[in-house]
Amino acid sequence: MLTLEQIKDIRLKAYLPRVITDQSVTTYLGSAENISYSLYTLFPNTTTWVYYHSNSSADFVERYTILNGVLEIDRDGQKLILQRGDVIDVNECAGVVTCNAESHVEILFEMTSSKFEKNFSERGIIQRDAKQIQEVDGYTYHHCSRIRDYSLELWKRMRPGRQGVAILSMGSYFHDIGKLAIPLEILNKTGKLTDDEWKVIKMHTTLGAEMMSNHPIERIRKAAFIVEEHHERYDGKGYPYGLVGSQISIEASIVSVVDAFDAMTTKRVYRKAMTTEEAIQEMKDGKGTQFHPEVVDEFLAMLEDKQNKWI
Ligand SMILES: [Fe+2]
Repeated sequence: MLTLEQIKDIRLKAYLPRVITDQSVTTYLGSAENISYSLYTLFPNTTTWVYYHSNSSADFVERYTILNGVLEIDRDGQKLILQRGDVIDVNECAGVVTCNAESHVEILFEMTSSKFEKNFSERGIIQRDAKQIQEVDGYTYHHCSRIRDYSLELWKRMRPGRQGVAILSMGSYFHDIGKLAIPLEILNKTGKLTDDEWKVIKMHTTLGAEMMSNHPIERIRKAAFIVEEHHERYDGKGYPYGLVGSQISIEASIVSVVDAFDAMTTKRVYRKAMTTEEAIQEMKDGKGTQFHPEVVDEFLAMLEDKQNKWI
């Protein structure tokens, strides 16, 4: 095990491979005896999730030790404060653990080497794809992170199991990836769209699913169905297929609710944002028609727990 001093010394070496995202920096420190060590730095006011991978073997290691800062975690509805020296061992996590960093938090991250190498390279690829979306559409990029954050939180409340979290994370984050294939003059048009232009916009669901299905990362390929279904409506009046009720996956139903609420409460070039109260009313009005009723109920309960704060 490396000492804190050794880690800090290594951290200063700029050549170490790292993956930088909006939420965190992961710096690879080295490997010994099949365990990889990295320094995981969370930025202030960010949220991340830790969950057990059900397909992991018995001797699988995934452990997070707080080195600096304070981390608030939500584990099975119980809030805990973790500080220097506290450990999250993923093998002991029954469900999904939400980790909120209020300040900079530095964590020593230990993981079975084979899994770490795969994860580390995948995170790099995911980040590159996210940057590509940002270049095309800045709004979509920030919107993506919010949609993922709230979708995972909602999933956690509705299905407190281990399965499916990684797939929902990818499907919600990349739900609008198909917009990369839509001409910019249509995507950014401020005036009214023609019927033909609407048809093109609606293609972002199937185009996105196709992009996901051909992706080199397995959990992204597996999330293609969420992207394809995220504009379906509970009453069958959505697109691209007009699926009804339970024909729509619960994952896509979650993304649809979170996506709609975020769109309503965000200012766009062509319209001003609704107030939270107005958007809540819209969600209630759309319950059972546009939206899955149970997802709306759980979403509104989640908002209430968050004192209606939406960031
Ligand atoms: Fe969309």
